[in-house]
Amino acid sequence: MTVPAHVAIIMDGNGRWAEERGLPRLVGHREGYRTLRQIILSADKLGIGYLTVYAFSAENWRRPKEEVDGLMQLIAQAAIDELRVMHQNNIRIRTAGRIHEVPESLREALERGVETTKNNSGITFTLCINYGGRAEIVDAVNLLIAKGSPSIREEDISSNLYNPDIPEPDLLIRTAGEMRWSNFLLWQGAYSELVVVQKPWPEFTFEDLREACEEYSKRTRKFGGLAEG
Ligand code: FPP
Repeated sequence: MTVPAHVAIIMDGNGRWAEERGLPRLVGHREGYRTLRQIILSADKLGIGYLTVYAFSAENWRRPKEEVDGLMQLIAQAAIDELRVMHQNNIRIRTAGRIHEVPESLREALERGVETTKNNSGITFTLCINYGGRAEIVDAVNLLIAKGSPSIREEDISSNLYNPDIPEPDLLIRTAGEMRWSNFLLWQGAYSELVVVQKPWPEFTFEDLREACEEYSKRTRKFGGLAEG
């Protein structure tokens, strides 16, 4: 099986999962966190080297304050509670997004996670927070302007993204059946293979990840050219 080196996930459907059970949406996010934990800790069994997840988009601030505050608290607490186990498992934590705009407690917890695990050699886990694909491209272009670039080539944008050393995602998984890109990894995802899973994120399992990787291994990637062979 050709394993995708980098898997990116849009963890959709937490809210619907909760609402269908008559529960507050935040309970769905809490279940989503449980799922995410299992996936991070098992992804390397499949040979995946990089795992990137969309935890909070730049557009998610438009949700009710209660949900936004709850999500920020959940993620900050998780970043504190899980650091030890992530470090023990040799996981390297990264973030992507306008992190300077998130609440200080969350920013500090994330920065500590990134710093503590920066020399780990296992799977690289990137948490996208206050992330937007367009914003990332705009931020890259502004960096280039500040550096005095007279003109911009594709490789200049690539090398000024939030994590230029991370390879582009091979496989993008979206849960809860929606067939949308939702402003995620717009630049890096140009040639990603897309697998949409019908289940909401709280029900996603390691087996679903394995199946998505199998589906990926059957695809012929052409990058705009012709299939080899
Ligand atoms: C999309 O589902 C999910 C989110 C906006 C939040 C994702 C966050 C988590 C899975 C928790 C992450 C926890 C940590 C520790 C990183 P939705 O609420 O838009 O679902 P809906 O479309 O059914 O309403």
